[in-house]
Amino acid sequence: MSLWGGRFKEKASLQFKKFNDSLPVDYRMAVQDIVGSISWARALNSVNVLTDQEVAKLTQALEELKLSVENNPEQILEADSEDIHSWVEIQLIQKTGDLGKKLHTGRSRNDQVATDLKLWCKEKGNEIYVALVNLQQAMLDLAERERNTVLPGYTHLQRAQPVTFGHWCLAYVEMFNRDIGRLKDALYRADTSPLGSGALAGTAYPIDREDLAHHLGFRTATLNSLDAVSDRDHVIELLSTASISMIHLSRFAEDLIFYNSGEAGFVEMSDLVSSGSSLMPQKKNPDACELIRGKSGRVTGSLTAMLMTMKALPLAYNKDMQEDKEGLFDGLDTWQECMEMATLVAEGLTVNRKRTLAAAQQGYANATELADYLVSKDIPFREAHHIVGEVVLDAIEKGVPLEDLTLTQLQQFSPKIDKDVYQHLSIESTLDKRESLGGTSRQQVEKALADVQTGQKTL
Ligand code: ARG
Repeated sequence: MSLWGGRFKEKASLQFKKFNDSLPVDYRMAVQDIVGSISWARALNSVNVLTDQEVAKLTQALEELKLSVENNPEQILEADSEDIHSWVEIQLIQKTGDLGKKLHTGRSRNDQVATDLKLWCKEKGNEIYVALVNLQQAMLDLAERERNTVLPGYTHLQRAQPVTFGHWCLAYVEMFNRDIGRLKDALYRADTSPLGSGALAGTAYPIDREDLAHHLGFRTATLNSLDAVSDRDHVIELLSTASISMIHLSRFAEDLIFYNSGEAGFVEMSDLVSSGSSLMPQKKNPDACELIRGKSGRVTGSLTAMLMTMKALPLAYNKDMQEDKEGLFDGLDTWQECMEMATLVAEGLTVNRKRTLAAAQQGYANATELADYLVSKDIPFREAHHIVGEVVLDAIEKGVPLEDLTLTQLQQFSPKIDKDVYQHLSIESTLDKRESLGGTSRQQVEKALADVQTGQKTL
């Protein structure tokens, strides 16, 4: 059954109908459509289109429908309606007869779909917010547990300078903080109600749109009907927030895949989030992280698709915009699922502290320390850098770490080197010198942890 047809002589072909129908995707907005319809009935009552009794009847029927779809959303998929808006209206007509046919007065599916989708975004946004905060908490807990664990820090995937494992965790805490900020920001802008904008020009009934917006739980009503029905910025903003966050997750996944590799052996992932090989019995693969890394491409793909769909669309509503939901739903579901999985990964991680320490001690990660030591002996940094480069080359040739070179050997490169040099070359001293804000010293990490936990310092 369709909601239009008077103007048509022939029925649409089945092939077109299948192409045009959006019910298989937008059935997920059933509750939002019903809630919007209840508010709309109330608005129609306020302008005397519906009597008190009529609005009470419609509201009751809609509440019943809401309960029924909450219990069994899949029932919707059995129908052959064009979209969720038609489905709800048809159900209402079946329940209330001619009264149900009054509900669409002054309303269009264009302001309806825009409203439903924003309501859906707000709800999903809150679930995602929880997932983000949980993930951040898991990283904070890990940072707390591993705050004194030494880890080699890398640039170009070459061991660069030692950091603490806690410092590594807190880097992701920062990224997730920015994601939380972006999410809140996107949700704030999405929190405006298009209902009452009609098809494009506004509604001809003098309803109080601000009041309607508040009844639906929106911050306020949109201001321009043409924009309101054709704006999908919230979809783009949420997908770009999701994409940026997924890029963070992909880096988290990649770091852990590397740390988990046989070559590094820094961490072991819990059995709960690993899988084996059907052929090689010895294997334990980091599939959870690999899937997170892989799915980041999919979310970014949805963002790109939405940007391209909206590009150069003339005002106001165009059917192209029906393409918004599939990518949005999939993008946000995927993001949420990946965050939940990353939380499990972080919670189940075992760190091999001996291996991380041993790796940090190799690879001349204390070379900068030796340069700084020479600077303290009045050698300009550029010169000190060159001298240390020569020392490292010599140590590589001898196959020893810097601290194993004797004082006489070291003094061949600079007579200013004294025996106090050795205390500067230890891992502890290398770490603890990075004491200024944002550095990896154990004291700074301790402070950063406390700051996040007490909410003292967030950017
Ligand atoms: N299913 C449509 C969508 O998702 C609803 C709006 C249809 N409006 C229209 N004038 N055909 O965008």
